Amino acid sequence: MKVLGIESSCDETAAAVVENGRKVLSNVVATQIKEHIVYGGVVPEIASRMHTQAICAVVEKALSDAGETFGSIDAVAVTYAPGLIGALLVGVNYAKGLSMSTGLPLVPVHHLRSHIASNYITHPDLEPPFLCLVVSGGHSHIVEVKSYTEFSIIGATCDDAAGECMDKAARALGLDYPGGVNLDKASLSGDPSKYIFPYPKVDGSEYDFSFSGLKTAAVNLIHNSAQKGEKIDIADFGASYINAVTRCLCDNTEKAAVNFGYDKIVLAGGVSANSRLRAKMQGLCEEHGWRLFMPELKYCGDNGAMVGAQGYYEYLSGNTASLSLNACATMPIDEQRN
Ligand code: KG4
Ligand code: ZN
Repeated sequence: MKVLGIESSCDETAAAVVENGRKVLSNVVATQIKEHIVYGGVVPEIASRMHTQAICAVVEKALSDAGETFGSIDAVAVTYAPGLIGALLVGVNYAKGLSMSTGLPLVPVHHLRSHIASNYITHPDLEPPFLCLVVSGGHSHIVEVKSYTEFSIIGATCDDAAGECMDKAARALGLDYPGGVNLDKASLSGDPSKYIFPYPKVDGSEYDFSFSGLKTAAVNLIHNSAQKGEKIDIADFGASYINAVTRCLCDNTEKAAVNFGYDKIVLAGGVSANSRLRAKMQGLCEEHGWRLFMPELKYCGDNGAMVGAQGYYEYLSGNTASLSLNACATMPIDEQRN
């Protein structure tokens, strides 16, 4: 079964054709980084306009790269939640129009579910159940993936997401958007013990995260240094800060895996591209003898292939939508609206 996956939840307009949830026949991503860089972050209105301008060409290229046509694919899967509402609506309405004109089934895909599915592309042998740490610009979750379409949230952030926390510190350091990526690159050779950051804990929950205090600590440190005329060593600062964020992510994932009895650990979401997080998770899993699955770097960020992959499994479990499908800015991963 060939699924066309369409993604427009944030700042990438993306489409792909994926066979049986695992084999990527094409993957086209039009990024808007250049448009948002001058503002230091994503401007929702600009994102929606750019999606509108790009979506037809992106889908057409995805089909032609795969050697397919609208007549030869079997379903249209689209990200419908969560994300920027105006951005999501572009993909959802495009997919609805396509479904109406071709008669193809319309499959609604939750954005975080699709991030998890990026691992099915990279690891053909990976099957649920497993424990997944999903970390993106807007979410930080520890999730039990019970089946391809059943999820249970064990822990989540009470405030900022890990990606947001990296982006804001990077911006205060003067690095370009997308901050997390640039902070990662700038800190590769840094000393992670040079700057001291707090270790935030959430009262009453050993699996939840809180990153807003860490973000504030970083911003205060940067501003205080500027006031005193002291220079921040970006490599050391970045390494120490990323170390502080990722140790929370790894510690809570470790506790959840031990207490819920998982030995298959999966990483997903844009922040799963982070080199320190990947290395730390690797070390943790080796220590416990757990198997670790991470998406190939090109599938860590938003893309259409992961939507096509998850769309296949949603379709198999009967999750298709009518033309009354709407986009939703927020929706928990364990909910499904058709
Ligand atoms: O999943 P994603 O592409 O979009 C959302 O669904 O939010 O994640 C984007 C987030 C941004 O905060 C970006 O800075 C972060 O992922 N990110 C990284 C890296 N690559 C992307 N953060 C740290 N290190 C990276 N290498
Ligand atoms: Zn994402």
